[in-house]
Amino acid sequence: MDGMRITLPGTDLTVHPLCLGGNVFGWSADVDGSFAVLDAYAEAGGNFVDTADSYFWRKPGNSGGESETIIGDWLASRSNRDDMVLATKVGSWPERPGLSRQNIAAAVDDSLRRLRTDHIDLYYAHKDDPDTPPEETLAAFDELIKAGKVRHIAASNFTADRLAESLAVSEREGLARYVALQPHYNLVERDYERELAPLLAERGLSCLPYFALAKGFLTGKYQANTPVDSVRAEGAGAYLDERGRRVLAELDAVAERHGARPATVALAWLAAQPTVSTPIASARTTDQLTDLLALAELKLDDDDLARLTAASA
Ligand SMILES: NC(=O)c1ccc[n+]([C@@H]2O[C@H](COP(=O)([O-])OP(=O)(O)OC[C@H]3O[C@@H](n4cnc5c(N)ncnc54)[C@H](OP(=O)(O)O)[C@@H]3O)[C@@H](O)[C@H]2O)c1
Repeated sequence: MDGMRITLPGTDLTVHPLCLGGNVFGWSADVDGSFAVLDAYAEAGGNFVDTADSYFWRKPGNSGGESETIIGDWLASRSNRDDMVLATKVGSWPERPGLSRQNIAAAVDDSLRRLRTDHIDLYYAHKDDPDTPPEETLAAFDELIKAGKVRHIAASNFTADRLAESLAVSEREGLARYVALQPHYNLVERDYERELAPLLAERGLSCLPYFALAKGFLTGKYQANTPVDSVRAEGAGAYLDERGRRVLAELDAVAERHGARPATVALAWLAAQPTVSTPIASARTTDQLTDLLALAELKLDDDDLARLTAASA
């Protein structure tokens, strides 16, 4: 099992090739469904779970923290905290907004309580906070690492300029630095490649892309005149334009060649891109998860990769 693990550069974290997205837990998956997905993921050797304090406050009736609570209850009931690499985030939940020292200090304790653990392996700034100087944010994160509450820190949704600024601050002030970036990146969203990928390559950070399946679009289930029963149908369905159809056709062709599923091919394309360590994708059911886990066995050749890249240009 350890043979297929990946070490995140700049850390001692060794993770499964698929990072399991946790925003569905308490949103489109109820507690039993979430436990089933988490169990199946762990049984297949999965050990890397991504969540945020804010998941999923937008669902009517929720207030936020639901995903962390489900994951924490699952870890406690399975007694497997030490087998898992846990990532969560601070800064985009309306209850605890921004990256001020005060907010980070309060948010981390709440996340630890909900996750029922004494440390977070990878703690993200969920989005940039233009109102807080990076010196303050990084000093706050540095304190958490020194206190043992957090092992490593990372950024999400930062521009290249602002990420470079934060890295420079860490260096200048001798503070902990971001080891990874979690950007919006997949076969139909490739802005990441322009400025962020070169920066990450130069500075040795790893990329952990979110919406790896473009909210489900890259599974191929969105077709003209075929309604999809999903809370995310509107967002995912919006990719069905000419380019989207080209990408789906190429995913089908490559999938057929490998006896694989389009979703698995989409994840394998992403995993093969420079700087990417592990894609982050979610599953609402164990059936869906099967296609995601197949990533660990699928290796695309240069021709497959070039065709997919060209189709999504
Ligand atoms: N940093 C950030 O700002 C940020 C933002 C968004 C997400 N994230 C993280 O990234 C993770 C991944 O993003 P995401 O979960 O929103 O989107 P995603 O991984 O692109 O899409 C996952 C969705 O696609 C559908 N799906 C998955 N496998 C399938 C299969 N085999 N067949 C058919 N449908 C399938 C499911 O939705 P349906 O069944 O409902 O169609 C599933 O919830 C999140 O869980 C979260 O941890 C981070």
